[in-house]
Amino acid sequence: MIVEAKVREFICTTAHPIGCRENVRRQIAYIKERVQFHGKKKVLVIGASTGYGLASRITMAFGAGAATLGVMFEKEAAKKRTATPGWYNTKALEEFAKEEGLYAESLNGDAFSEEVKERVIEKIQKELGYVDLVIYSLAAPRRTTEEGITYHSVLKTCDKAFTEKSWNLRSNQISEATIAAASQEEIESTIKVMGGEDWYRWIQVLDRAGVLAKDAVTVAYSYIGPELTYPVYYHGTIGMAKKNLEEFAGRLNQEYGRNGLKAYISVNKALVTQASSAIPIVPLYFAILYKVMKQAGTHEGCIEQMGRLFGEKLFGGNCPVDSEGRIRMDDYEMEAVVQQKVMEIWNRVTTENLLELADVEGYWEDFYHMFGFRFENVDYTADVEI
Ligand code: NAI
Repeated sequence: MIVEAKVREFICTTAHPIGCRENVRRQIAYIKERVQFHGKKKVLVIGASTGYGLASRITMAFGAGAATLGVMFEKEAAKKRTATPGWYNTKALEEFAKEEGLYAESLNGDAFSEEVKERVIEKIQKELGYVDLVIYSLAAPRRTTEEGITYHSVLKTCDKAFTEKSWNLRSNQISEATIAAASQEEIESTIKVMGGEDWYRWIQVLDRAGVLAKDAVTVAYSYIGPELTYPVYYHGTIGMAKKNLEEFAGRLNQEYGRNGLKAYISVNKALVTQASSAIPIVPLYFAILYKVMKQAGTHEGCIEQMGRLFGEKLFGGNCPVDSEGRIRMDDYEMEAVVQQKVMEIWNRVTTENLLELADVEGYWEDFYHMFGFRFENVDYTADVEI
């Protein structure tokens, strides 16, 4: 089939198998060339197929030579519908890893379910014996619990509706967008999906099954961002879920710390991923941030962020944390000069000067790359096996 990008606002409904492979290949090449370190050797990555989870997996496999077991929720191709990017990414990653003699196996299923947890434990028992690093990088729209209740995560504010400048990705216009206030039920629902309960459950079942190494490390990802986006993010429903995630990091350290477990929260940089491009108002912040950080020479993508997190911070012999015990991978993003410039541009940006003031091209480049499109060395006119 000849696969073309079909973009609808913040989602692309097709993915290019060869392009996704190229995306993975480039990230591997970066790690092999720039980030080599001694770290943990048997790694479970929950949410391993795209964005930060994929970059984490690549970093541990190709930077530290680790065996990786990935869990993801992706769709295979069916008739004329391509698979999701995470499906192609995972196939490619497994192939590249095997070429180098690295163990890389994956389990496609709902990570929230007990069934998938059991299957993962069985696989660890049979094939790895134990895991010594658990990376929790889920970004999910919903979660169905064992009791059969489905919770949805919503992106809303927590007190009153919030109106700010926004970039309409379809018309390329700057206008205003309003984000509605969530009900208490919606806040609680978002916490159920994106909070720490399921992370805690994973550690609990791995420990009970005796497959968690004594000195294991676990890390989950959070975001804070500037005051500008607080109503949408940090003080919004997703921010409440992230606070809950942080509380669970504390609980994991308290309850499993005496066994040697260390639980971390890494506050990562804002980046275009499938999860983040769906948040209103945020894409304009991204495009401006990219412009400012590229000019400052401090811009990073998922792979550079994860290379620095694992290679320099977590396993680099010195892991500085903030007053709340969090690893701050958003250090460059939050630099005062960077934020000051972002705010200056934010106040001035209009439909007319958008292309000049914001990195619109960089935003779309990341977006298309996520789905395997716009790589100059991939022939998009060729017939490909989907
Ligand atoms: P993403 O959408 O690229 O990746 C999500 C991953 O979760 C994929 O591997 C997907 O298959 C998997 N997944 C979703 N539902 C699942 C389920 N039910 N069972 C198994 N796997 C499932 O998202 P991204 O952006 O990489 O997010 C990962 C984490 O990083 C999230 O916690 C997010 O809040 C956090 N983060 C993201 C930032 C950003 O700007 N993108 C910034 C800071 C933190």
